[in-house]
Amino acid sequence: MARAPNVHICEVAARDGLQNLDVFVPTEAKCELIDAIAAAGISEIDAGSFVPPKVVPQFADVDAVMAHAVQHKSATIGALVPNFKGAERAIAAGVGAIYFVISASESHNLANVRRTIEEQLEGFRAVRTALDALPIAGRPRLMGAIATAFGCSIEGQIKEAAVGRLARGFAEAGADEIGLADTVGYGTPGLIKDIVRVARDEIGSQIPLRLHLHDTLGMGLANAVAGLDVGIRRFDAAVSGLGGCPFAPGARGNVVTEDLVFMLERVGLSTGIDLDRLMQTREILARHIAPRHLTGHLHEAGIPKALRSAA
Ligand code: COA
Ligand code: ZN
Repeated sequence: MARAPNVHICEVAARDGLQNLDVFVPTEAKCELIDAIAAAGISEIDAGSFVPPKVVPQFADVDAVMAHAVQHKSATIGALVPNFKGAERAIAAGVGAIYFVISASESHNLANVRRTIEEQLEGFRAVRTALDALPIAGRPRLMGAIATAFGCSIEGQIKEAAVGRLARGFAEAGADEIGLADTVGYGTPGLIKDIVRVARDEIGSQIPLRLHLHDTLGMGLANAVAGLDVGIRRFDAAVSGLGGCPFAPGARGNVVTEDLVFMLERVGLSTGIDLDRLMQTREILARHIAPRHLTGHLHEAGIPKALRSAA
């Protein structure tokens, strides 16, 4: 009998994975990707960003993509928003989760959303108020996503206290969950543990913490293990290792979902994800995206199916 999942994975290829590409992935292909991800048993999908099309043209079709995505009842469909207007659009689209992003780095925050951290927190509070006015049944979960929590391509090292302060700010403003994002992938296992502990000390034990890892230095999986060691059971990841922030040059893609799932299952944890089906998403991506953007050890190793399914 299948074990109950004890690690939660949110698939971010349809958002983080696409936002930095120089090609527009057709709407039907985005929908097909989301369908394939849902069919593999992923229970949360970050399906796009509600940003102005002139800022990120890839999401010019986000309303159409979301209208399709929210039909999936087996998965929570979420969206990244950078401001109140984005949250209003996400609510209107019927999403189940809103990821509101603020960077721990003041410089990255200004580059990314053209606001100070404090202004951005004001926006977050306004979103909380708007959500609280909705009936509980249809109310999306609100995540406070801390970008550049483990380093910044503009400022370099980020002070632990800056991450702690922002985590507390999100918690006090009523975040349902807080995400720690290694936006540029400068994190190392020791740093991951330190920052998770700092954030946990600030927010207490009630609000779930999530890790969002990029593989810039090849440490994505090691960082995930470090997260597991300090109690993290919620991760973002992207199929075929897609990903990168347009306002954080030099970042590589997200930790590869296929590799993460394989590793977690091999160490005895359970994700509830069908790895074989998940790997089929590569075919959809390969039709539209250049091979250099598509990574993943499991794909490259071509290991036998029997070993994969025994994972
Ligand atoms: N969706 C659609 N349109 C939006 C919008 C949103 N979420 N937010 C603002 N707009 C529109 C405004 O209505 C306004 O339109 P108008 O010119 O027709 O009046 C215009 O965009 C400018 O609004 P303003 O509030 O001044 O935005 P800005 O130019 O200061 O940009 C952000 C701020 C946050 C919208 C922009 O920096 C952004 O989208 N950043 C996100 C970047 C990103 O996706 N990074 C990667 C993920 S971490
Ligand atoms: Zn990212």
